[in-house]
Amino acid sequence: MVHEELYQSFEDKNKTAETGGGAERIQKQHESGKMTARERIEMLLDKGTFVELDKFMAHHCSNFGMDKSHIAGDGIVSGYGRIDGRQVFAYAYDFTVYGGTLGAVNARKIVKVQQLALKNGAPIIALNDSGGARIQEGVESLSGYASIFYQNTIASGVIPQISAILGPCAGGACYSPALTDFIFMANKNSYMFVTGPDVVKTVTHEEVDKEELGGAYTHSSKSGVAHFVCNSEEEVLMSIRELLSFLPSNNMEDTPIIPYSDDTNRDLPELQEIVPSDPNVPYDMKDIIEPVLDDHYFYEIMSHFARNAITGFGRLGGKAVGIVANQPTFLAGVLDIDSSDKIARFIRFCDCFNIPIITFEDVPGFLPGTVQEHNGIIRHGAKIIYAYSEATVPKITLITRKAYGGAYIVMSSKETGGDINFAYPTAEIAVMGAEGAVNILYRQVDDETKKKAVDEYRKNFANPYKSAELGYIDEIILPKYTRIKLIQALEMAKNKIKSNPPKKHGNIPL
Ligand code: HXC
Repeated sequence: MVHEELYQSFEDKNKTAETGGGAERIQKQHESGKMTARERIEMLLDKGTFVELDKFMAHHCSNFGMDKSHIAGDGIVSGYGRIDGRQVFAYAYDFTVYGGTLGAVNARKIVKVQQLALKNGAPIIALNDSGGARIQEGVESLSGYASIFYQNTIASGVIPQISAILGPCAGGACYSPALTDFIFMANKNSYMFVTGPDVVKTVTHEEVDKEELGGAYTHSSKSGVAHFVCNSEEEVLMSIRELLSFLPSNNMEDTPIIPYSDDTNRDLPELQEIVPSDPNVPYDMKDIIEPVLDDHYFYEIMSHFARNAITGFGRLGGKAVGIVANQPTFLAGVLDIDSSDKIARFIRFCDCFNIPIITFEDVPGFLPGTVQEHNGIIRHGAKIIYAYSEATVPKITLITRKAYGGAYIVMSSKETGGDINFAYPTAEIAVMGAEGAVNILYRQVDDETKKKAVDEYRKNFANPYKSAELGYIDEIILPKYTRIKLIQALEMAKNKIKSNPPKKHGNIPL
C-alpha cells in the first residue's frame, strides 16, 4: 500500500493524543477516584457518537520549559455527539495534561465548540477538572478565560449551557460554570473556589479546608452556586442526560414531547385531605406536586438550598413544565433572600426556553427581621416579581392555602400575568394572617374581643371566595382534580402569544 506508512503514523499520533498526559498520570487520575476526560465524554454521550475536534492542537508557550513538552490536544477534549439522539456539544478538561489548566490554545478550542453550539442551536456541556489559569502562559491564559466567559454570556438564553465540576475548579475556572444555566457537582473530589485555602489563610487568617470552602455540600446547600450534587461522576453524567430530556435544544424550539401513558384524566382522591385544617400545621408540598405529574416523577433542582422554596421539572401529558412552589414544611414556606434568588433564576430559565411554569402557592409572606432587611430582601424579593412579570410562557398558579400580603402578589398572581389562577377551597387570600391583622386593627381591646375579631377575619378573608368574586382567581377547584385542571389549563394556553415591548434588555434588580 502506497500510503501505509503515512496511515500508520496517523494512527500512532492519534493513539498518543488519546493518552493525554500519559499512562502514569491516567493511573493517578483513576487512583484518586476520577475518570479521564475521554472516559467522561464517552459516558455522557450516546455510545459511539462522539466526534472529536482539534485533537492535535498544542500550546506554543516557551516559558518555564514549556517548549520541551507539547501534548496533542493541550488538555481539552472537545467536539460534538448525541444525547438521546439529539445533537449536543461538549468539552472536558483533561487533568492529566498540565493539571487541566487553561492556556491560549486550549481556550481557542473551547471557544470553537461554544461558537458551533450557538450557531447550530444545540446545548453545550462542560466537564471541569482544572487547576485554573496556566501560570506559564500569563496574560494569554487570562485572555482565554475572558473569551470563554464572553461566549457563555452571548449564548445565555439561546442554548442550554450545563457545567459539571468533577475535580478542582479554581480561580478563573469558576466563572464559566457560574455563567451557565446549571452546575452539577460530584460529592467527592470536586471543589470550586475563587481562591484556595492557602490564599484564604494569608489574606483573612481564616483556616478552612477545601471541602468546607468550596466542596459539593457547601455549594449545594450554603452558597447556592451548584444546582445538583451527585454521589458519583457517573451519576452526574446520567443526571445531565436526564436534565436535557426536559429542555429544548435552543430558545426557538419547544420542549420535546415524550410519549406518555399516564392518564391525563387521573383523579387524585388522596389530595382531598392533604391540606391540614389548622393553618399552622405544615404539610409537604411535594405530596401535591409529585402525584400530579406524569408517573409521579419530579426532577428537583437545588433540593438542598433554600428549602422553603421548591423548583424543578416534571411533565404533564408528556410535555415538560417548570414547577415553582413554596414548601410549608421548611420555615413555613416563607419567602426570604435565598428562596427569592432560587425562584427568580428558575423562572427566567423556563421563560428563556419556552417551558410553561406551574406555581404551587402556600406562603405566609416575606421573612421579617434585620438580617433579611439589611441584606436586601427588598431587592431580592423584587426579582421574583420581575421574573414572573416579564415571563411570557404559559403561567398557571394554584393557591393551596396561604397567599398573604406581598407574597400573594409575587407568586404569579393574576395581575403579574398569571394565565390561569386556581385556588383550593382551603385557600386563604388576604393582606396578612388573622392574628397579625387583628393585632394591628384592635390594639387596645381585651382578649375576648380580639378572639371574636380573629374569627370574623377568618370567616371573611381566610378563603378564596372574595378573590374569586373579584376575578383574581379564575376557578376554585377540588384537590382531587388538580392534575386534570392543570393539564386542561396547559392545553388552553399552549399557543399563547405574548411579547413584551421591544427593548435592549430589562434591568432586573440584582
Ligand atoms: C500551571 C498547574 C496549575 C496552574 C496545577 N498545575 N495548577 N500548572 N498552572 N495553575 C500543574 C501542577 O504543577 C502539576 O504538574 C499538575 O498540574 C497537577 O497538579 P498537582 O498540584 O500535582 O495536583 P493536585 O495535588 O491534585 O492539586 C490540584 C490543584 C493544585 C488543587 C488544582 O494544583 C492547585 O492548587 N493549583 C493552583 C490552583 C489555582 O490557584 N489556580 C488559580 C490560578 S489563577 P506536574 O507536571 O507536576 O504534574 C486564575 C485566575 C484567572 O485562574 C482569573 C480569571 C477571572
